[in-house]
Amino acid sequence: MKKNYQNIVILSGAGISAESGLATFRSSNGLWNNHRVEDVATIEAFQRNPEYVHDFYNEMKPELLRAQPNAAHRAITELQKGYKGKVSIVTQNVDTLHEKAGSKNIYHIHGQINQAVCLNCGHILETWSDVTTETACPHCETNGMMKPNIVFFGENLLYMNEVDRLLKECDLFISVGTSGVVYPAAGFVQIAKLHGADTYEFNREETSNNYYFDHHIFGSAGSTLPIFVKELLESQKAEI
Ligand code: OAD
Repeated sequence: MKKNYQNIVILSGAGISAESGLATFRSSNGLWNNHRVEDVATIEAFQRNPEYVHDFYNEMKPELLRAQPNAAHRAITELQKGYKGKVSIVTQNVDTLHEKAGSKNIYHIHGQINQAVCLNCGHILETWSDVTTETACPHCETNGMMKPNIVFFGENLLYMNEVDRLLKECDLFISVGTSGVVYPAAGFVQIAKLHGADTYEFNREETSNNYYFDHHIFGSAGSTLPIFVKELLESQKAEI
């Protein structure tokens, strides 16, 4: 690794937060193993039974509020602080561990657990408290129109214009802790590669879209990513 990268994009998934004690989605004890996606994570489910969907996300909040970033999140912050090129984080995670680690330039394409969006006026409410069908929008004051700001299946991802631009201009694309089965995020590596980026995948195991990655670093992100970041920072110093 000898290149001075100008634009680095890091795509993170649930696996980066596993070492912070948070369940991933598709592991044997994962979130989707205990719940039917169509009951809690589709726009139809929310329209059918908003109380149930609110309860599901409200129940997740205390654990996500308590969770602390791990060595992988901290390594990314170190890279952002120490590297000359721009480092952007595109995360599928609804937790706020990148923020807690002090990272910047974070795009939560699947939303955030600590936000609700008003379906009437689009206002985003930031809160770790419960949001219910009774919650009024603080902006337009309409009752019962707040939806968890989580992107449900059947909805558009957030920040896609910005992310598309970042993917096309990046020269290093790093995927960390994602199974690569949920599109469009699973296809980001293809866009980055098509536009000339070097591509690295960090995962504990092989994934289904690993074909597009130039390099695979197997292991727990909390161990592998800090080493990689150290190498990147040192390679930059060596080139000066
Ligand atoms: P998954 O649960 O599908 O995949 C987690 C990945 O992390 C797996 O490939 C694991 O092998 C890997 N992994 C686990 N622990 C790890 C560790 N310590 N270090 C490195 N890798 C590790 O989670 P996502 O890919 O994030 O969408 O799932 C994508 C989307 O599917 C989620 O954002 C969610 C879900 O449906 C929405 O809710 C919209």
